Amino acid sequence: MTEPVVLSQDRGPVRVITVNRPDKLNALDADTLDALHDAFRAAAGDEAVRVVVLTGAGPKAFVAGADIARMNALTPVQGRDFALRGQRMMRFVETLPKPVIAMVNGFALGGGLELAMCCHLRIAADTARVGQPEINLGLVPGFGGSQRLLRLAGRAATLELCLTGTAVDAARALQLGIVNRVVPAAELEAEVMALADQLASAAPLALRGILDCVNFGGECAIEEGLAYEAAQFGLVFSTDDMREGTAAFLERRKPVFHGR
Ligand code: COA
Repeated sequence: MTEPVVLSQDRGPVRVITVNRPDKLNALDADTLDALHDAFRAAAGDEAVRVVVLTGAGPKAFVAGADIARMNALTPVQGRDFALRGQRMMRFVETLPKPVIAMVNGFALGGGLELAMCCHLRIAADTARVGQPEINLGLVPGFGGSQRLLRLAGRAATLELCLTGTAVDAARALQLGIVNRVVPAAELEAEVMALADQLASAAPLALRGILDCVNFGGECAIEEGLAYEAAQFGLVFSTDDMREGTAAFLERRKPVFHGR
């Protein structure tokens, strides 16, 4: 029996989704893109899932890019469709109403960095290397790399990484703002799970409001973004969790949130 290319496993309220093609350094072919989309759809629809952690199988790679062997023979129309397939899946992840943490356990190159960048937080092992090496293949980033890297790290870093195709180590990625934290490889899983547990105990509807504010408000003019934030702020006053969070503070106890 062949192994599934994407695995999903629950650790309490945290769903761990793993790209599972370690012999190909978890390269993304069309089937893997579709399996990831399905896995994230399932996570979105399952109320018991509060947080998602995304990682790659094996000791070497998060994801080493789009599958070069599969891309080699594509026609222009197929190439465009392949880009749109990846972009749709990654936009779905980016707009998921629950936090998604990329556990960057090794190479995150090309489509791999693009996949990490559509997640809401990125924690990298100190052994990780990230880059947009498409130029070395005569390609252009196709799963949103030129757009999300620009928004995350700015024009200078985006042009440097995309034009040279040179990968950078985790420390430099941190300096450029591409990853949130770098931790020793041996501590990566524990660190990410602790962060995931912290987010899983937060008020889910407020988390969703924050994600919406950043995803949608962040792309608008400041007046529209602020109006959107005020609307989200007002909306959480309709939740039991907001009453619980404020009451718990006043009563000097730990809040318990139920997502209502
Ligand atoms: N697409 C398809 N297969 C890939 C791949 C990719 N993006 N990245 C790695 N693989 C495959 C290799 O072809 C190899 O398969 P094989 O054993 O059947 O020959 C296997 O994964 C292991 O990779 P290998 O290159 O032998 O490992 P390495 O440790 O020597 O090098 C990398 C690691 C990441 C530096 C190297 O694999 C690489 O440069 N990959 C491509 C990165 C890239 O350009 N990504 C952007 C694509 S748009």
